Amino acid sequence: MDKAVVAVVGSAMMDLTAYAKTLPQPGQTLVGDLFTTGFGGKGANQAVIAAHCGAKTFFVGKLGRDSFGESIALNFQELGIDISYTQYSDVATGVAHIWVDGNGENRIVIIPGANSEIEIAKASNAISAIKNLSVVIAQCEINQDVTVAAFSVAKERGVTTILNPAPFMPLSPQLLQLTDWLIPNESEFKELHGSPPRSDEILKSFRPNKNSIITLGSEGAVLVTADGSIVPINAPIVSVVDTTGAGDAFVGTFACALANGMSPIDSARLGVAVASLTVTRKGAQSSYPTQAEIEMLS
Ligand code: ATP
Ligand code: RIB
Repeated sequence: MDKAVVAVVGSAMMDLTAYAKTLPQPGQTLVGDLFTTGFGGKGANQAVIAAHCGAKTFFVGKLGRDSFGESIALNFQELGIDISYTQYSDVATGVAHIWVDGNGENRIVIIPGANSEIEIAKASNAISAIKNLSVVIAQCEINQDVTVAAFSVAKERGVTTILNPAPFMPLSPQLLQLTDWLIPNESEFKELHGSPPRSDEILKSFRPNKNSIITLGSEGAVLVTADGSIVPINAPIVSVVDTTGAGDAFVGTFACALANGMSPIDSARLGVAVASLTVTRKGAQSSYPTQAEIEMLS
């Protein structure tokens, strides 16, 4: 059987991560435990987990003409991710400076670099050209007008659109209208709605007649579907090492499962199972389960 086709229009970054039990206060210097350089960026992370999950995956984005860009492109190719629609820029590849504390919680500063150079026409042409496309995913580490253009073409083609509004930024009414599934985490939900996702009334008033999933960290996730039903999904209790990229693991897995014809509830269950496994390992893409491990969770 042909693989389901998923496209990610989004960011790729090199993650430069320092691990320390306690993070420094302003003006303080501390000795940390470990430094790693790893593949990251919300768009790339979501593409990688969708590929691990079994989708034919396209990455539509922009890298710098530098060593980070070269190694990110090589990583995509080694994973079988199609980069025919990935462009190159004289602006440096995006980087993320990440601090992870002893509880596995992170703080991140991103420098988007080449990610901010994605051209609207290139992204929309890609979405119109990719054959048998089922699902398009986007996030908020690239310019919003690129996402609007890509989602407009996707909707003209009857392709499902998924927006992970991370990191938070205000979303235009047009983008919200073009988004079939909006997947914020708890703090993004609060920014978008004004209230925390803590009652059925609040959840139902978030996007009446539209689909959303709110990820809730150790509490799993909750689906709020267009017909008004609310379905909580619990996460397993795990030993947390590093939560970086967990939200992306959920989004990419959900997209792949949906593209493969699984129900939204089963897709979200698989998303929670995969994401909860990733928090037990260090890094973003380095924490992602293999296809064989995902099959065991299905
Ligand atoms: P991050 O920014 O750290 O990548 P996020 O804030 O976007 O994550 P979360 O809602 O924190 O997203 O987590 C996404 C998913 O990861 C959850 O739905 C859950 O499956 C898993 N997860 C996160 N934290 C934990 C935890 N402490 N225990 C178990 N699962 C977790
Ligand atoms: O969601 C995790 C990602 O956010 C990291 O990989 C980092 O690159 C930042 O973009």
